[in-house]
Amino acid sequence: MGLPRVLSGVQPTGALHLGNWLGAIRNWVELQSSHDTFVCVVDLHAITVPHDPKQLAHDTLSTAALYVACGMDPEHCSIFVQSQVKAHSELCWLLNCVTPLNWLERMIQFKEKAVKQGDNVSVGLLDYPVLMAADILLYDADLVPVGEDQKQHLELARDIAQQRINANFGSKEEPVLKVPKPLILKEGARVMSLNDGRSKMSKSDPNEGSRITLLDPPELITKKIKRAKTDPQIGLEFGNPDRPEAENLLSIYSILSKQSRDVVAAECAEMGWGTFKPLLAETTVAALEPIQSRYAELMGDQAELKRILNQGRERAEVVAEATLKRVRDALGFLA
Ligand code: TYM
Repeated sequence: MGLPRVLSGVQPTGALHLGNWLGAIRNWVELQSSHDTFVCVVDLHAITVPHDPKQLAHDTLSTAALYVACGMDPEHCSIFVQSQVKAHSELCWLLNCVTPLNWLERMIQFKEKAVKQGDNVSVGLLDYPVLMAADILLYDADLVPVGEDQKQHLELARDIAQQRINANFGSKEEPVLKVPKPLILKEGARVMSLNDGRSKMSKSDPNEGSRITLLDPPELITKKIKRAKTDPQIGLEFGNPDRPEAENLLSIYSILSKQSRDVVAAECAEMGWGTFKPLLAETTVAALEPIQSRYAELMGDQAELKRILNQGRERAEVVAEATLKRVRDALGFLA
């Protein structure tokens, strides 16, 4: 038996933010030494909403560089670009043909994004979770580390594998696909907007002040935190449902300063926002500094970055092709 397998990915749509790092990538870094870890830049997902073709290749490379800068070690994990492993598109088609339409229509993210797109909403946006299921199922992933917002998509991937493929085309003794489990950590799974502690930090929020990206320079981080929404109360606390901003900013501080919530709660119990905000800004700048300098080095040597992605693609193709063959055989295609 090999190591348990991990698969995850982030879309290359603009700079990654604190939510992507704390909710997802940080967990991949922890898992890579004890798991056979595959992480991809999901560029096919990035075109499910209107995109700029002049930016896509750059953003794909930049996202891969951020994976490495955040601590993904290409010698311990496989980093690749989704669209470069053709099996993702093919398995997506096979899964499309067994997935009921109404399973997709009830996806919360589709409903939220579709409202924003109006009449322009693409079939791809509806199909997004099936492609995501293909990403995961191709690698026989045991664990999928993601933020809280992806829980429903993970459930869908499990249902497709179990109810639509294994139940109809496999047997109990020989399931066609492995049924994956989500890994959603308690802390950092839902980093909230700086402008509103009740809505998620998101790449698609038109207000850039709502998020801190991993590439924001120190002055910008300080400015965004200074402007972040707060409340009039002195003394900061976790767990008060009427103070979502306090919960969010203290949680970010706790993770970035590597101190437990109890220690942070005690440290900040008497503090006002005017004292806390500079502390949070300083902590955030310090936490991002090593990521930003490693990122700059990597982007300065794109040949090396492409070598890393090629190596990842080769490893990914071996696993993905084997799974795709299993599914093709189970569905009865001519060999
Ligand atoms: P994306 O690019 O929207 O998000 C990437 C990861 O970041 C997490 N995340 C957050 N976590 C905490 N707080 C937030 N505010 C926050 N915002 C985003 C997401 O949960 C995610 O883990 N559909 C996926 C991409 C994908 C994928 C996959 C993931 C495609 N195929 C296969 C895992 C396995 C997504 O949301 O991307």
